[in-house]
Amino acid sequence: MSIPIYKRDLIPCLLCYDPMCSKTCNYNQEPGKVLRSLRFSNYKGAVEKLTNACINCNADCENSCVIPKQVKIKAILSRCYDEKITHNLNFKRNILKSDICGIPIENPFLLSSSVVASNYDMLKRAFIAGWAGASFKTISMFDMHEASPRYSAIKGISGTIQSFKNIEQLSDHSVIDNIEMISKLKEEFPNKFLLISIMGRDEKEWKYLAMRAEKAGASALELNFSCPNMTEDETGSDVGQIPRLVELYTKAVTSVVKIPVIAKLTPNVMSMTQAALAAKRGGAKGISAINTIKSITEFDVINGIYDNSHDIAVGGLSGQSVKPIALRFISELTQNEEFSDMHISGMGGIYTYEDAIMFLSLGAKSLQITTAVMEYGYRIIDDLIDGLELFLGENNISMSELQGYNKNKIVDIKNIDRDYIIYPKINHSTCVGCGRCYISCSDGGHQAMKLINRVPTLDSSKCVGCHLCVIVCPTNSITSSNIKIPKNHK
Ligand SMILES: Cc1cc2nc3c(=O)[nH]c(=O)nc-3n(C[C@H](O)[C@H](O)[C@H](O)COP(=O)(O)O)c2cc1C
Repeated sequence: MSIPIYKRDLIPCLLCYDPMCSKTCNYNQEPGKVLRSLRFSNYKGAVEKLTNACINCNADCENSCVIPKQVKIKAILSRCYDEKITHNLNFKRNILKSDICGIPIENPFLLSSSVVASNYDMLKRAFIAGWAGASFKTISMFDMHEASPRYSAIKGISGTIQSFKNIEQLSDHSVIDNIEMISKLKEEFPNKFLLISIMGRDEKEWKYLAMRAEKAGASALELNFSCPNMTEDETGSDVGQIPRLVELYTKAVTSVVKIPVIAKLTPNVMSMTQAALAAKRGGAKGISAINTIKSITEFDVINGIYDNSHDIAVGGLSGQSVKPIALRFISELTQNEEFSDMHISGMGGIYTYEDAIMFLSLGAKSLQITTAVMEYGYRIIDDLIDGLELFLGENNISMSELQGYNKNKIVDIKNIDRDYIIYPKINHSTCVGCGRCYISCSDGGHQAMKLINRVPTLDSSKCVGCHLCVIVCPTNSITSSNIKIPKNHK
């Protein structure tokens, strides 16, 4: 089931804190939660929440909205309710239990090491909200001296973050304070997974931090070999680029602790394999990836001049735009038999349960998230869990079946079959005649799309089946035919 058109309708919705629409709904349907589920692609979860058709309602939700009448809440909810009734949807659920190196986790979702997981109060709220665990903000013995501002972003046309850049370093709490917080969390939440991220400057520091974290109750350790924002030589992502150091520090840690050790690797390399092999030789039981990607995002043009009010530095990119890069690294690791006995924790741009499925189906067993939480808060866990449970239930597959399901479907580009064409097909009943397919095919394709009286038609003698028209169509009226036609039959 998919209702993509709702995405466009949802753009004006600001996903408010404590939304007025939920407070004023005459049918107690919590429109705020329904809109949020739709925004995070959890269509089934949205539909499931509805108990009433909004008939005879004067739409107080729309009037009380912080931007009155701009979000067509009643119409959106009514269409969802219609969907529920007409399709007689059957909401089956499957459980999300997984494990990290043999230690059970209630679901695969953890906060990744960053500001979102930096103190006791934050993690307490996150755990109560439903997160299965967290990778604690990296603990070190460095003296932190952070910059301001430290974040910048590239936003999409609807104002949402596409790419997020940070120049933040590690935890600014002392080792003692961090250790105290970990002990307290362990005591209060014994079933949550406490992955403690650490970074040392030499073997002695790595060992010291590892032993302190283990003693405080860490479930496992995550060795941060990947922060791109460290200024001292041979720390952070520098280490991840030097397999010899990865092995040395991993060995140092595994020689002093019994809990599982996971190496968090950098994507600022051509291939992650050498560093991952080094971590394995050092005794790591898992790999987590990816940390952020070195980048520049700033240079906002203000009044025609560059904004140079503060220093700009290369920093680490995260968020939706890094997901494709993260997926390629996860695939590199999970396709390699050398790592088949290692836990792979995937992250980079996960926002929705659909993103989660991509990582899991490529072989990740746990997932970590930062940027989506920074943008929308811990509450995103609702639709991650709900959406994934409903997906597994609907498809009648278990978590373990999903994990790695698509692992071998990624073929080497050398081996891709190039002897067929899959033509697009046009649904003229939903096409509005905007001509976007025509423009793109004319100027960025093979001039196969004709537009006569605002009706697009395809000239298959020119079409190469690139699918640009499928991608650009704003109303999803052009889709893939999914039929392979051998090239010599053209
Ligand atoms: C503001 C910020 C701070 C971060 N701090 C750390 C850190 O201390 N240690 C670490 O291993 N990764 C750190 N990361 C990287 C994240 O844990 C994660 O690997 C990366 O952001 C990709 O995931 P995302 O797209 O869900 O944010 C940080 C990321 C951000 C955005």
